[in-house]
Amino acid sequence: MSQSAVVENPLLEGLPRDRAVDPFAMVILGAHGDLTKRKLLPALYALYIDGLLPRTFAIVGMSRTVMNDEEFRKSMKDAIQKYSPDLKFEEETWERFAATLYYLPSNFVDNGSFEGLATLLETLKESHGTGGNHVFYMSTPPSLYEPIITQLSAAKLVSKKKVSEKPWQRVIVEKPFGHDLPSSLALDDHIHHVLNEHQVYRIDHYLGKETVQNIMVLRFANGMFEPLWNRNHVDHVQITIAETLGVEGRGPYYEEAGCLRDMIQNHMLQLVSLVAMEPPTSLESESTRDEKAKVLSALRTIQQADVDLCAVRGQYGEGYIQGEKVLGYRQEDRVAPDSATETYAALKLNIDNWRWADVPFYVRSGKRLAKSLTEIAIHFKKAPYNLFQGMTGLKAGQKTGDDELSPNVLVLKIQPDEGISLKFATKQPGATTQIRWLNMDFNYGTAFGVRSPSAYERLIHDCLLGDATLFSRTDSVETSWRFIEPVLEAWDLAKSKKGPQPRFPNYSAGSWGPAEADELIASTGHAWRRL
Ligand code: BG6
Repeated sequence: MSQSAVVENPLLEGLPRDRAVDPFAMVILGAHGDLTKRKLLPALYALYIDGLLPRTFAIVGMSRTVMNDEEFRKSMKDAIQKYSPDLKFEEETWERFAATLYYLPSNFVDNGSFEGLATLLETLKESHGTGGNHVFYMSTPPSLYEPIITQLSAAKLVSKKKVSEKPWQRVIVEKPFGHDLPSSLALDDHIHHVLNEHQVYRIDHYLGKETVQNIMVLRFANGMFEPLWNRNHVDHVQITIAETLGVEGRGPYYEEAGCLRDMIQNHMLQLVSLVAMEPPTSLESESTRDEKAKVLSALRTIQQADVDLCAVRGQYGEGYIQGEKVLGYRQEDRVAPDSATETYAALKLNIDNWRWADVPFYVRSGKRLAKSLTEIAIHFKKAPYNLFQGMTGLKAGQKTGDDELSPNVLVLKIQPDEGISLKFATKQPGATTQIRWLNMDFNYGTAFGVRSPSAYERLIHDCLLGDATLFSRTDSVETSWRFIEPVLEAWDLAKSKKGPQPRFPNYSAGSWGPAEADELIASTGHAWRRL
């Protein structure tokens, strides 16, 4: 094809190009799935209209569904308009973007389609000036990851490359990365036969959220927090990822996964490592990932015999979410009527190092809870002595003394409210001294007044730039699986009906989870925040 077929991006005119992306072709494997429609294509289109994609590029969708390029373009247009109504959509801009989209049907196991892919990519190198740089996005069911890697290698589309070698080849792997420690090690082994670690981008979309990236800025760009960020001043830390959603038609996946695999092994432990890590020596990706890996390896091993003392599981029964009656988990589509899969998990963690010795980290996550909300709450130690006895608004008969004082709590609000709040004591205006606890709030929306890019925009852009900082490295994934393994083993026994069955359902949809979770943290003198 002639050079005139190259689709250039006029939106780039005049924009600063400090972090310039090389020309590329991205192949999305699993292009007719939900993730592509809801997240990946909207993210690529948003990057395009923000001028963050290069002048020349191409995107190839592959999946089982048989359709042609035009049908694929139409289905992606519908998806972007449906799932990303906030994106500025102009017909003319879309047409230019759509001209970069191609489609190839494939069942992912027959090698003919990968030979076809190799031919198409060779053509696109000429027609769309992709420079032969390729990124393969694995958005298929995880059982296809290994066969796809084998096929890509057989078609000579991927091989081990040196760090700055061009053209480059990268692979993005969606979670779940393995089902347990052995399967994750086996997958890594398979991948490392064909690719070097620097070519592998294991995605954890939590790391792409603006508010999660702000954890490092808050901690290391301000002088006032870090001196307090340790066992001398922090009493305990609570991290909550709560969802009102149920399993949303993903019954078969969720039956295999459960909350521990779906949320704790990845998103939650990544949040723990960002909160607890030491300052990295630079922003270079390995430096940050080294510090995060150290936190994960300092997590105290949960002994088999202690699983019940450190971990609580729950499963929702029917209930009400925002006034609407919803089904219990066991009544959901393609879920076993006697399922022992957990839809809620709470864990008590200890980090055995100098900074965090004796500071409990409590983490909880669940589906069909009362609110959708993610936050990290740092509970500081109380003031050492209460000078204001009887002035803290206690009701008659309530105890006075040091117990009257509330601790300061710094809350990093990840979603849906994005911001930071600090709870502190203040004097209520008036002739007498009366203490009240108030929140000082910072809110992203009002402070900046701009749209926060989606996590997938940031992560896809970083991968195109070759920046792996916000992706999970092989050692962290392995350590996370290793850490939750004793709990997984104990809970999997119940799921396979080989162990004692939990008393499920043990919380109602629309509540804050099982009572056992309150007992878990009460046993060390704490209580979950009421959100
Ligand atoms: C995914 C899980 O990784 O994260 C889902 O598989 C969960 O079960 C989702 O709903 C939550 O992500 P977010 O960004 O909506 O908090």
